[in-house]
Amino acid sequence: MASNKIVVIGSINMDLVTQTQAVPRLGETVLGTSFTTNPGGKGANQAVAAARLNADVTMIGAVGNDSFGKELLHHLQNQGIFTGNVEPVTHKETGIASITIANHDNSIIVVPGANDCVTEELVEKYEDVIAKNDTMLLQLEIPLKSVIKAAELAKKHGVRVILNPAPYQDLPEELLQLVDYITPNEYEAVELLKASNLKNLHEKLIITKGAEGVSFYENGLEKNISSYKVEVVDTTGAGDSFNGAFAVALSEGKTIEEACSFAVAVGALAVTKLGAQSGMPTREQVEAFLNEDKPSGNMSSTKIQ
Ligand code: RIB
Repeated sequence: MASNKIVVIGSINMDLVTQTQAVPRLGETVLGTSFTTNPGGKGANQAVAAARLNADVTMIGAVGNDSFGKELLHHLQNQGIFTGNVEPVTHKETGIASITIANHDNSIIVVPGANDCVTEELVEKYEDVIAKNDTMLLQLEIPLKSVIKAAELAKKHGVRVILNPAPYQDLPEELLQLVDYITPNEYEAVELLKASNLKNLHEKLIITKGAEGVSFYENGLEKNISSYKVEVVDTTGAGDSFNGAFAVALSEGKTIEEACSFAVAVGALAVTKLGAQSGMPTREQVEAFLNEDKPSGNMSSTKIQ
């Protein structure tokens, strides 16, 4: 029987978001139009996406012993996420992401800070917690060695692993072997396919394509699920929404196709509000959205050449 217990091991950031009409070149100053601080971090975003869809979510990570850290922990708890395994550290500041939004698209600089304190030892300490879950969500904003350790422990305890390879870096085959699904965007997928010789890599790939939807591979076919036409306000966290939703759907026993289809709808809703997490929908909102008469979310397939 599938459980919906999901453990996320990853980053927790405060997003410092500036909206501007013009992005400054090096050496240039421009006037922006607004500034906000929003909870973010790929790990925390994916945890929130899953929790809003009624999953039982545990977060493993680290924040600084500072005001951002306290605010973010409080926020995660308010979302119903178990944060007893998020360690406040005193020698590093909470991670931040400096985000510039222009023309509905973003550029991001992440300063990991306390996220770098999610060491292999810290991950190992929570082996028992990991073992109690059905699915693990991983990204690449904590040290790579810790990601590998987490995947090893998940494998040991039969926990399904979804790796979102963002921000992209070359990954050892050892890690790619360990994970069940890898969810790159199109750019990350090209890099992954260039760098890896793994035989069954295609079967693990779920490629997110923004407004184009998602592609995955099944029985020698490349399948595509198209996305929905929505008013895009901010694409920050769209991939995280997809990953959180994909994990929830799989842990509820849905097929890959059903899980992708559900996650595409969640990703589409998430981009309609400013901030990585503010547009992430509840289960009721996704169901209402899917019940509307819409011309997309369709499946097509082509043979892999
Ligand atoms: O995926 C979006 C996230 O990337 C932002 O919330 C930011 O914190 C960066 O980690």
